[in-house]
Amino acid sequence: MKPPPSPLKLQHVGLRGGRLADVLRFFEGVLDLRHVETVASAGAGLPFGICFFRATNLHHDVAVEIWPEGAPSGDSPRMFPHIAFEVPDREVLMAWHRHLKENGGEIVPPMSGDGGPVVFSPTHPEGIGQPGENRAFFFRDPFGNRYEFFCDMAEMTEDNEIDPEWNRERMKRDGYPAG
Ligand SMILES: [Fe+2]
Repeated sequence: MKPPPSPLKLQHVGLRGGRLADVLRFFEGVLDLRHVETVASAGAGLPFGICFFRATNLHHDVAVEIWPEGAPSGDSPRMFPHIAFEVPDREVLMAWHRHLKENGGEIVPPMSGDGGPVVFSPTHPEGIGQPGENRAFFFRDPFGNRYEFFCDMAEMTEDNEIDPEWNRERMKRDGYPAG
Protein backbone atom coordinates (compact mmCIF):
# COMPACT_ATOMS: atom_id res chain seq x y z
CA MET A 1 0.00 0.00 0.00
CA LYS A 2 2.95 2.32 0.59
CA PRO A 3 3.58 4.35 -2.63
CA PRO A 4 6.96 4.29 -4.37
CA PRO A 5 9.34 6.76 -2.71
CA SER A 6 9.39 9.44 -5.36
CA PRO A 7 8.33 13.05 -5.52
CA LEU A 8 5.69 13.46 -8.21
CA LYS A 9 6.08 16.47 -10.44
CA LEU A 10 2.98 17.86 -12.12
CA GLN A 11 4.09 18.50 -15.70
CA HIS A 12 1.41 18.84 -18.40
CA VAL A 13 -2.32 18.87 -18.92
CA GLY A 14 -4.52 17.44 -21.67
CA LEU A 15 -7.50 19.65 -22.44
CA ARG A 16 -10.71 19.62 -24.44
CA GLY A 17 -10.49 21.56 -27.69
CA GLY A 18 -12.24 21.99 -31.01
CA ARG A 19 -11.33 23.03 -34.55
CA LEU A 20 -7.61 23.52 -35.19
CA ALA A 21 -7.92 27.19 -36.18
CA ASP A 22 -9.86 28.00 -33.01
CA VAL A 23 -7.40 26.10 -30.82
CA LEU A 24 -4.38 27.84 -32.40
CA ARG A 25 -6.06 31.22 -32.08
CA PHE A 26 -6.50 30.79 -28.34
CA PHE A 27 -3.52 28.75 -27.14
CA GLU A 28 -0.96 30.37 -29.44
CA GLY A 29 -2.52 33.78 -29.98
CA VAL A 30 -3.98 34.48 -26.53
CA LEU A 31 -1.97 32.31 -24.13
CA ASP A 32 1.23 32.85 -26.16
CA LEU A 33 2.27 29.18 -26.01
CA ARG A 34 4.57 27.85 -28.72
CA HIS A 35 2.89 25.46 -31.16
CA VAL A 36 5.02 22.31 -31.45
CA GLU A 37 3.07 20.01 -33.75
CA THR A 38 -0.40 18.67 -34.51
CA VAL A 39 -1.34 15.05 -35.17
CA ALA A 40 -4.52 14.22 -37.06
CA SER A 41 -5.23 11.16 -34.91
CA ALA A 42 -4.74 10.67 -31.19
CA GLY A 43 -4.42 6.92 -31.78
CA ALA A 44 -5.88 4.20 -29.53
CA GLY A 45 -9.15 4.43 -31.47
CA LEU A 46 -9.83 7.98 -30.30
CA PRO A 47 -11.81 10.03 -32.85
CA PHE A 48 -9.79 13.25 -32.65
CA GLY A 49 -6.29 14.65 -33.13
CA ILE A 50 -3.99 16.43 -30.71
CA CYS A 51 -2.31 19.82 -30.87
CA PHE A 52 0.81 20.17 -28.72
CA PHE A 53 2.04 23.43 -27.16
CA ARG A 54 5.00 24.24 -24.98
CA ALA A 55 6.14 26.98 -22.61
CA THR A 56 9.37 25.25 -21.53
CA ASN A 57 12.08 23.23 -23.30
CA LEU A 58 9.98 20.05 -23.08
CA HIS A 59 7.92 18.76 -26.01
CA HIS A 60 4.58 19.82 -24.51
CA ASP A 61 3.13 21.55 -21.49
CA VAL A 62 -0.40 21.61 -22.89
CA ALA A 63 -2.03 19.10 -25.26
CA VAL A 64 -5.41 19.96 -26.77
CA GLU A 65 -7.98 17.85 -28.63
CA ILE A 66 -8.48 18.73 -32.30
CA TRP A 67 -11.81 17.79 -33.79
CA PRO A 68 -12.04 17.51 -37.58
CA GLU A 69 -14.51 19.59 -39.58
CA GLY A 70 -17.92 17.99 -39.49
CA ALA A 71 -17.22 15.86 -36.39
CA PRO A 72 -19.30 16.35 -33.29
CA SER A 73 -16.82 18.61 -31.53
CA GLY A 74 -15.60 18.47 -28.03
CA ASP A 75 -17.86 16.13 -26.07
CA SER A 76 -15.28 13.72 -24.67
CA PRO A 77 -14.86 14.38 -20.96
CA ARG A 78 -13.78 10.79 -20.28
CA MET A 79 -11.51 10.23 -23.27
CA PHE A 80 -8.64 12.72 -23.43
CA PRO A 81 -8.48 15.36 -20.70
CA HIS A 82 -5.81 14.41 -18.17
CA ILE A 83 -3.14 15.69 -15.87
CA ALA A 84 0.34 14.28 -16.24
CA PHE A 85 2.90 13.62 -13.52
CA GLU A 86 6.55 13.17 -14.38
CA VAL A 87 8.66 10.57 -12.56
CA PRO A 88 12.46 10.27 -12.72
CA ASP A 89 12.91 6.99 -14.62
CA ARG A 90 11.46 3.73 -15.94
CA GLU A 91 11.91 1.85 -12.66
CA VAL A 92 9.90 4.42 -10.71
CA LEU A 93 7.31 4.49 -13.51
CA MET A 94 6.82 0.70 -13.26
CA ALA A 95 6.69 0.86 -9.46
CA TRP A 96 3.86 3.39 -9.72
CA HIS A 97 2.11 1.25 -12.37
CA ARG A 98 2.11 -1.74 -9.98
CA HIS A 99 1.11 0.36 -6.99
CA LEU A 100 -1.84 2.00 -8.75
CA LYS A 101 -3.08 -1.24 -10.32
CA GLU A 102 -3.07 -2.92 -6.91
CA ASN A 103 -4.74 -0.03 -5.10
CA GLY A 104 -7.73 1.10 -7.12
CA GLY A 105 -6.31 2.94 -10.12
CA GLU A 106 -7.93 1.62 -13.33
CA ILE A 107 -5.25 1.39 -16.03
CA VAL A 108 -6.74 2.74 -19.30
CA PRO A 109 -5.55 3.01 -22.97
CA PRO A 110 -3.25 3.66 -24.59
CA MET A 111 -1.34 0.71 -23.17
CA SER A 112 1.04 -1.96 -24.44
CA GLY A 113 -0.13 -5.51 -25.22
CA ASP A 114 0.54 -6.58 -21.63
CA GLY A 115 -1.15 -3.51 -20.14
CA GLY A 116 2.13 -1.68 -19.46
CA PRO A 117 3.38 1.77 -20.48
CA VAL A 118 3.76 2.87 -24.11
CA VAL A 119 6.44 5.04 -25.74
CA PHE A 120 5.02 7.99 -27.69
CA SER A 121 7.50 8.14 -30.54
CA PRO A 122 7.57 7.85 -34.34
CA THR A 123 11.22 6.66 -34.29
CA HIS A 124 11.97 4.78 -31.02
CA PRO A 125 12.02 0.97 -31.52
CA GLU A 126 9.22 0.62 -28.96
CA GLY A 127 7.32 3.68 -30.22
CA ILE A 128 3.61 3.68 -31.08
CA GLY A 129 3.99 6.43 -33.70
CA GLN A 130 2.72 9.42 -31.73
CA PRO A 131 4.94 12.40 -30.84
CA GLY A 132 6.29 13.42 -27.44
CA GLU A 133 8.85 10.66 -26.88
CA ASN A 134 7.61 10.10 -23.32
CA ARG A 135 7.15 6.61 -21.83
CA ALA A 136 3.74 6.68 -20.19
CA PHE A 137 0.74 4.90 -18.77
CA PHE A 138 -2.73 6.22 -18.01
CA PHE A 139 -5.19 5.48 -15.24
CA ARG A 140 -8.46 6.69 -13.78
CA ASP A 141 -8.95 7.34 -10.12
CA PRO A 142 -12.12 6.07 -8.39
CA PHE A 143 -13.82 9.39 -9.26
CA GLY A 144 -13.33 9.20 -13.03
CA ASN A 145 -10.38 11.60 -13.37
CA ARG A 146 -7.80 10.54 -15.94
CA TYR A 147 -4.07 10.74 -15.23
CA GLU A 148 -0.82 10.09 -17.05
CA PHE A 149 2.40 9.07 -15.32
CA PHE A 150 5.48 9.29 -17.51
CA CYS A 151 9.23 9.66 -17.76
CA ASP A 152 11.54 10.77 -20.57
CA MET A 153 9.67 13.51 -22.41
CA ALA A 154 11.69 14.94 -25.30
CA GLU A 155 13.75 18.04 -24.66
CA MET A 156 13.48 20.51 -27.55
CA THR A 157 15.90 22.88 -29.23
CA GLU A 158 15.24 26.54 -29.98
CA ASP A 159 14.29 25.42 -33.50
CA ASN A 160 11.49 23.27 -32.09
CA GLU A 161 13.31 20.02 -32.89
CA ILE A 162 14.02 17.13 -30.54
CA ASP A 163 17.41 17.79 -28.94
CA PRO A 164 19.76 15.22 -30.54
CA GLU A 165 21.91 15.06 -27.39
CA TRP A 166 18.85 14.29 -25.27
CA ASN A 167 17.81 11.61 -27.79
CA ARG A 168 21.24 9.95 -27.71
CA GLU A 169 21.17 9.78 -23.90
CA ARG A 170 17.60 8.48 -23.85
CA MET A 171 18.37 5.73 -26.39
CA LYS A 172 21.40 4.73 -24.34
CA ARG A 173 19.26 4.59 -21.16
CA ASP A 174 16.75 2.41 -23.03
CA GLY A 175 19.49 0.01 -24.17
CA TYR A 176 19.55 0.86 -27.89
CA PRO A 177 22.56 1.87 -29.96
CA ALA A 178 22.52 5.60 -30.68
CA GLY A 179 21.32 6.21 -34.25
FE1 LIG B 1 -0.34 13.62 -21.82
